[in-house]
Amino acid sequence: MQKNCIILASGNGSNTLNLINKFYTGKTGSGLINISAVVSNTSYAPVIDKVKKTAPDIPVFTIPFTFLSEREAFESRLESIIEKYKIKFIILAGFMKILSKEFVSKFPCKIINIHPSLLPAFKGRDAIKNAFEYGVKYTGVTVHYVTSEVDAGPIICQEIVKIDDFDTVESLEAKIHEAEYRIYPIALEIALTEGNPHVN
Ligand code: GAR
Repeated sequence: MQKNCIILASGNGSNTLNLINKFYTGKTGSGLINISAVVSNTSYAPVIDKVKKTAPDIPVFTIPFTFLSEREAFESRLESIIEKYKIKFIILAGFMKILSKEFVSKFPCKIINIHPSLLPAFKGRDAIKNAFEYGVKYTGVTVHYVTSEVDAGPIICQEIVKIDDFDTVESLEAKIHEAEYRIYPIALEIALTEGNPHVN
């Protein structure tokens, strides 16, 4: 049975667009994932117009959440959208805010995030740049369940990305994105069909 999902995004939206292109038309994938809505926490995010253009039927909501003081109102509005659209999974795709422990605990194994490093290495912001500057030879991408600890939930899927001598931060970023576009749809299908092996 199709599962309704909501995507939360803060910025450019290339992962959101990739997921929409994979699942929206139902042409690829198992047909299990239905993207019911997209939420951005800032009206300046390019993702908003991109989604409206690519998938005009998918409702896009902007709920302001820049400052910590806005988090409670953001989460309360988000919960009402989740209820209205009968959302089963919350997909973070470049969502650059931290959800509260209270919110996360209401949706165990239902919130999924993609992070541009091989967790547990290089948690937090600027993971690609930090890995490059550290001089690691391999970095990558991790898809994981969101728990109350930031960038630390059970891992669903990872892909390794090699850092070559000729790479720059920009070329590494491009390689990371390619890996993200490959593994996020696969990881979501695994999570939605198999669930969390740590819990189920
Ligand atoms: C992606 O690389 C994603 O992994 C990263 O933000 C980028 C968003 O790009 N997420 C994080 O760093 C979360 N901690 P996009 O807006 O083009 O999808």
